[in-house]
Amino acid sequence: MKEETLDPEDWEGLKKLGYQMIDESIDFLKNVRDRKVWQPIPEETKEFLNLPYPRKPMEMEKIYENFKNHIAKYAMGNIHPRFWGWVIGTGTMSGAMADMLASVVNSNMGGGNHGPALVEQQVVNWAREIFGFPTDSSGLLVTGGSMANLIGLTVARNTMLKEFVRETGLQDVDTKFAYYGSSEMHNSLQKAVEMLGLGNQYLRRIPVDDNFQIRLDLLKEKIREDKAMGIKPLCLIANAGTVNTAAFDNLEELSKIAKEENMWYHIDGAFGALAYISNDNKQLTKGLQLADSLSFDFHKWFYVNFEAGCILVKNKQDHINAFEVHASYLMKHEKGIGSSGSTWFSDYGVELSRNFKALKIWFSFLEHGLDKYARLVDQNIAQAKYTGTLINETEDLELMAPVSCNIVCYRYNPKNRNLTVDELNHLNKNILMTLQEEGIAAPSYTYIKGNYVLRVAIVNHRSRIEDFDLLIEKTIEVGKR
Ligand SMILES: Cc1ncc(COP(=O)(O)O)c(C=O)c1O
Repeated sequence: MKEETLDPEDWEGLKKLGYQMIDESIDFLKNVRDRKVWQPIPEETKEFLNLPYPRKPMEMEKIYENFKNHIAKYAMGNIHPRFWGWVIGTGTMSGAMADMLASVVNSNMGGGNHGPALVEQQVVNWAREIFGFPTDSSGLLVTGGSMANLIGLTVARNTMLKEFVRETGLQDVDTKFAYYGSSEMHNSLQKAVEMLGLGNQYLRRIPVDDNFQIRLDLLKEKIREDKAMGIKPLCLIANAGTVNTAAFDNLEELSKIAKEENMWYHIDGAFGALAYISNDNKQLTKGLQLADSLSFDFHKWFYVNFEAGCILVKNKQDHINAFEVHASYLMKHEKGIGSSGSTWFSDYGVELSRNFKALKIWFSFLEHGLDKYARLVDQNIAQAKYTGTLINETEDLELMAPVSCNIVCYRYNPKNRNLTVDELNHLNKNILMTLQEEGIAAPSYTYIKGNYVLRVAIVNHRSRIEDFDLLIEKTIEVGKR
C-alpha cells in the first residue's frame, strides 16, 4: 500500500507561496481605500463558482489566482473605510494572521488541557473584567450575537424553570411563560424563543418612546396583565444599542423591574456594550453590569475578524446547569489532555467541536491595549454625531432618529418637490442602491415609522471624517440625479 497524506511534497515551494500570500494580503488591506467599496459579481465569476466538484488536483498557485480574481475582488466590502452597513465589523490584518496561526495549531476548543483552552479562558476573564462582571461568573466565545442571545435565553429558561425543563421540556408544564423586550429588539431573540419552544407570541414587544427606548409604563402594564391571566414573566431583555438606531434602554430601571418580578435579566449588547469601555459615552451603558447574562460581539465594535461573539453569565452554576451533559467518551480524568482541572467549553453551550476564535482576540488586545479600543469607540460615536450635524445643516436631507451613539438614519427629501411617503421611500431606496452599486459607500437601510431611511452604522476603525463628508455630498448628488 502506498500511503498518502495531504501535506505538500514540496514544503519549500509552499513556503514561497505563503510569503507571497502574506505580502499580497497586507497590500490588499493597505490599499483598500483606493478601491470601490463593493462591486457587482460578473457572470464569469458566478459561472466559475458554480463548477462541479473537482476530482483531480489543481496547483496551489492556480487556486490562489482564482481566489484573487473571483473571490477577494468581489468580497462584501466591509474592510473598506466607507462600509457602514448593518452592524458589520472591519477586522484587522493581525487578526487575520492570528487566525492563520490558530488554524495551524488547529486545537479543538470543546475543552481540555491545552494552551489554546487557557487562551480562551483568559479572553473570557478579560471580557468579564471589562464589563464589570464578578470573577466567579462564566462566559463562552460563540459565533456571534445571535448564538450568544440563544445561550443567554436558554440559561434564563432553564434556571427559572429549574432542572425539570431539561427532562420534560415544556411538555409537562401547564403554566405559560413570557419574555419581554422592546419592539426594537433584534430578530435573533425571536429565533431564540422559537427554538426554546416558548413561541414567538410570548416574546412581548413593548412599544418604545421617541428615543426608541422601551416604555417602562407599558412594560409594567403588560407584566400586570400577563400575571392576571396566569402567564408567568420569565425573562426581561434589555437593548444596549438597538440594531435600528443604537438606542439604549434604561438598563438600571429594567434591572429593578426584573428583580421585583423575579425575572432573569438579559442584556443584548451585541455592539452597544462596547460603549461601556468608552471615555466619553460610558453613561449610555449605566447598569450594564447588572445583567444576569450579557451578549456582545468581538466581531462588531472590537473590530475583530469574523466570527467572534461572547455570552457572559453572572452565575456560573446556572450556566453549567443549562448545558452540561455527561457522557463516558467525554469523561474527565485526573491528568492528561482530558483533565478535569481544565475548562470544558462544551459544558457552557451547544457546540462540542469549536474553533480557536480566542487567538485573534488575544493578539488584537495585546497588540493595541484596551485604551485604544476605548478611543476608537469614542471616535466612531464622534463621527456619527458629526454626520448627524452635517445632515441637519444640509438642505434636502433629514435626520430620521436622534444620534445617541454610532448609528445615523437619514433620508433625502427635496423640499420643493412635496413627495409622498411612497415616492420618498422609492427615491431613497434608489439612492442607497446607487451608492452601493457605484462602489461609493455602503450604508444599509431600515424603516423608521414607515419611512425608508439610509442607515449608517459605524463600527469601522478605518473611517475618517472625509468619508462622511463624501457620503453626504454623494447622497445629494445621486438624489438630484
Ligand atoms: C442588537 C443586535 N443583537 C444581535 C445581533 C446579532 O449578532 P450577530 O450578527 O453577531 O449574530 C445584532 C447584529 O447586528 C445586533 O445588532
